[in-house]
Amino acid sequence: MTRVVPADAAAIEEAAGLLRRGRLVAFPTETVYGLGAVATSDTAVAAVYAAKGRPAHNPLIVHLKDRAAAHGIAVLDPRAEALAERFWPGPLTLVVRAAPGSPISRRATAGLETIALRVPAHPVTQALLARTVLPVAAPSANPSGRTSPTTAAHVAADLAGRVDLVLDGGACPVGVESTVVDLSVPDRAVLLRPGGITRDALVAAIGRLAEPGAHDDDRPRSPGRLLGHYAPRLPLRLDAQAVAPDEALLGFGPSVPPGARMTLNLSPSGDLGEAARNLFAMLRRLDASDAVRIAVVPIPGDGLGEAIRDRLARAAAPR
Ligand code: TXA
Ligand code: MG
Repeated sequence: MTRVVPADAAAIEEAAGLLRRGRLVAFPTETVYGLGAVATSDTAVAAVYAAKGRPAHNPLIVHLKDRAAAHGIAVLDPRAEALAERFWPGPLTLVVRAAPGSPISRRATAGLETIALRVPAHPVTQALLARTVLPVAAPSANPSGRTSPTTAAHVAADLAGRVDLVLDGGACPVGVESTVVDLSVPDRAVLLRPGGITRDALVAAIGRLAEPGAHDDDRPRSPGRLLGHYAPRLPLRLDAQAVAPDEALLGFGPSVPPGARMTLNLSPSGDLGEAARNLFAMLRRLDASDAVRIAVVPIPGDGLGEAIRDRLARAAAPR
């Protein structure tokens, strides 16, 4: 049975106890809800993969209470230290080299020599990590390949019976996942996934970023980049200028094409932060309509628009 409870102090204490006993707990972060397990336990981490139906080769992000908790787990070079100093706690994940003798389960890192670390800012995640003491591996709390959850109700609908406890901390304030930057190769910072920290903010902090390119072909991919993620049930049509009566429309900005069967607007005022917060919840609502397809108006690609466009492009990929 899956219980959904308000994320008060008692519930967080219970959740920490469950995690420490190797059980799964879903919890809010500032980006999306995570499905957590203690990162040092092979069996707990294996249960996360099983609950999500996630391929074993797709590694998990390890959540830490603070930067100091990375000691003994990973090696942070000066670039990583600089990014951590600037953006932690917050929606940035750093892929760095694992420390020799790291206690993190090899299943969490999918056997790679690198490890993805994040220090979340959400007060519930902070409190949960403080009470759990151990690092917590947590992917987004959705079945593998499907739309990410930004409310406890999304998690309960998606993972009913596959997670013991869902901490309800309301809607996630960022709404798209963390930005993932690979720093595991010296002098080469690769943006693996656009997310809650914008490209401009990263470039301002560390200078040039490299796109994943041909040189990265022999390196571990970030499987979250695979097309066909974030998939709703209905097909998606991007950059729609007009809409058909049997389509559901995802709008943005003050004027959207009329005539859709159902219309939701990510941000009538054209605010990309508001659009990111609404993205997954609105996709889910449109997906539940009786339309034959979801049409999406053009979304600007600057700021958080890069992450929004990335998720929409993956959701629209043929499958
Ligand atoms: O905002 C977030 O990051 C959320 C919340 C719960 O923290 N988590 C999340 O996890 O989005 P997940 O599993 O859905 O996405 C993690 C991404 C995947 O694309 C995975 O391939 C990549 O991080 N990743 C993890 N470890 C990696 C590694 N060692 N090297 C390259 N990519 C890695
Ligand atoms: Mg995910």
